[in-house]
Amino acid sequence: MNSPMRVAVTGAAGQIGYSLVFRIAAGDMLGKDQPVILQLLDIPQSLPTLKGVVMELEDCAFPLLAGINITDNPETAFRDVNIAMLVGARPRGKGMERKDLLEANGAIFIDQGRALDEGARRDVKVLIVGNPANTNALIAMRNAPSLMPGNFSSMMRLDHNRALSQVAAKLGRPVAGIRKMIVWGNHSSKQYPDLNHAEVGGDKVARLVNDPAWVEDHFIPAVQNRGTEVIEARGLSSAASAANAAIDHIRDWVFGTRENDWVSMGIPSDGSYGIPEGVMYGFPVVCKEGGYHIVPDLEISEFSKEKMQATYRELVDERDSVKHLFG
Ligand code: NAI
Repeated sequence: MNSPMRVAVTGAAGQIGYSLVFRIAAGDMLGKDQPVILQLLDIPQSLPTLKGVVMELEDCAFPLLAGINITDNPETAFRDVNIAMLVGARPRGKGMERKDLLEANGAIFIDQGRALDEGARRDVKVLIVGNPANTNALIAMRNAPSLMPGNFSSMMRLDHNRALSQVAAKLGRPVAGIRKMIVWGNHSSKQYPDLNHAEVGGDKVARLVNDPAWVEDHFIPAVQNRGTEVIEARGLSSAASAANAAIDHIRDWVFGTRENDWVSMGIPSDGSYGIPEGVMYGFPVVCKEGGYHIVPDLEISEFSKEKMQATYRELVDERDSVKHLFG
């Protein structure tokens, strides 16, 4: 048996946390021979709820769960962690503008970035889920100067998985057969789900669909607006599917993406595909040996370029409104 890995989850008393921590403890993320120690962070008001979650974790008697720590202190939560999943964030309150939300959450991610910088393992893998995820990830990264940009990522995987399912349903093919999907840009309704490169059984999805109007008028908006639809149906935002996406994201980052495929991850832009450095942007990436790299040399249509720039501009606006929060 391997020695335990330390996994921090913030906002662990929340909805996503409640779906996430049990699956991590069950070995769905790091494998069935990898013990884990959970380091769970929430705010003081949520600690009573978190204690209930811990009781349930104990009651599962998970063989791989080697320890659980709960705290309201980011430094304690991130000490020596291998994996940090930053889910906790302030929800948008009544009358709150998007800018106010950015500001309120920005403050959280400054502290958490600093705490990661101080205490996490140097090879820590950080995933930011709490919204606005891309910009929060940028703030955390900028406040963790002793870590590498490659330690940080934000979650586009839920959007990626939603896109795969839309295509599988349209073609009547198993979702596992769909490869090379991309969701570019921001995790917001400006994201660009791009199926121009997607394949199934060696055929191009776009050719099989053979219906550009479906792509533009159904597929793209369906993926962009799926979160809102879930809220309307459930009265609560996506939680189990978000937790599942977070598990997929970290598992692939640790173990590698499957052959002849890639995944979408929010990562620091490096100038690829005309997206200048300085934002966290959803790119197609291949994960290998614990790292990731952007898939190079994809041919990008004019239509795609325009959509990719629109989602980039939104990220620049978000970044510029919280510039003062960068370390
Ligand atoms: P929730 O409101 O049920 O739970 C949030 C938890 O975070 C609460 O327990 C709260 O006490 C905690 N929290 C607040 N401030 C904190 C801080 N400073 N430190 C630690 N914990 C803190 O929300 P839910 O549904 O679990 O969603 C969490 C976040 O994930 C939200 O921002 C949501 O918008 C985002 N999200 C992102 C997705 C993505 O694809 N990137 C998909 C779905 C949700």
